[in-house]
Amino acid sequence: MSTHINAAKGDIAEVVLMPGDPLRAKYVAEHFLTNATCYNEVRGMYGFTGTYKDHPVSVQGSGMGIPSFLIYATELIREFDVKKILRIGTCGAISEQVHVRDLILGMSACTTSAINRTRFDGYDFAPTADFQLLMTAYQKAMDKGLQNITHVAPILSTDEFYGHDEGLDEKYASYGVLGVEMEAAGLYTVAQQYGVQALAILTVSDHLITGEATSAQEREQTFTDMMEIALETAIM
Ligand code: HPA
Repeated sequence: MSTHINAAKGDIAEVVLMPGDPLRAKYVAEHFLTNATCYNEVRGMYGFTGTYKDHPVSVQGSGMGIPSFLIYATELIREFDVKKILRIGTCGAISEQVHVRDLILGMSACTTSAINRTRFDGYDFAPTADFQLLMTAYQKAMDKGLQNITHVAPILSTDEFYGHDEGLDEKYASYGVLGVEMEAAGLYTVAQQYGVQALAILTVSDHLITGEATSAQEREQTFTDMMEIALETAIM
């Protein structure tokens, strides 16, 4: 086992989907995977492995924020030889170009976190998605007829859910950033560090400018679309 994941080598697939919420991981395992078994319960951060269309796939909760995400993603890559990580999550929209329920494929991730300033001696680093995963996910979304709600764009990974300057969202939006969440910059950085593939697929859960809302049923449908795109991309 690794420090935070109580599994043996081989218990975890080379491909891992990572929702922030560990109960989401359980839900995905129960509703989208076949013969899923739980390999981790440490800190309640559930991880499951099953199959999707006969391909082994794992789903591991990450917790919220870059520090928690990096603990799990780093151990998955370093200790369990994971080669592909797809974050499946939600984001807040910061641009009127997007609406609640839309899908955003994060092409790159700006961040208010200082992780890369410490890694790169005070200089910048551009956390970027894997092109092949991005292209595949985009194609899967088109195949499902979701062209009107799918965006490929930079996103913003903040360190704070509460209290960050709203003027900052506006400034990022004016540079083409569409959504804000809290993990993708960590995912892309660690994936690039170890030469593995990564992509964040996000559904827009709330709109920070228009205050637009959505019904539980609509959220469920968007979640299913995101999961099908993520799983089809994962097994390519
Ligand atoms: N901020 C940060 N993370 C989020 C948000 C948000 O508004 N919505 C969903 N994840």
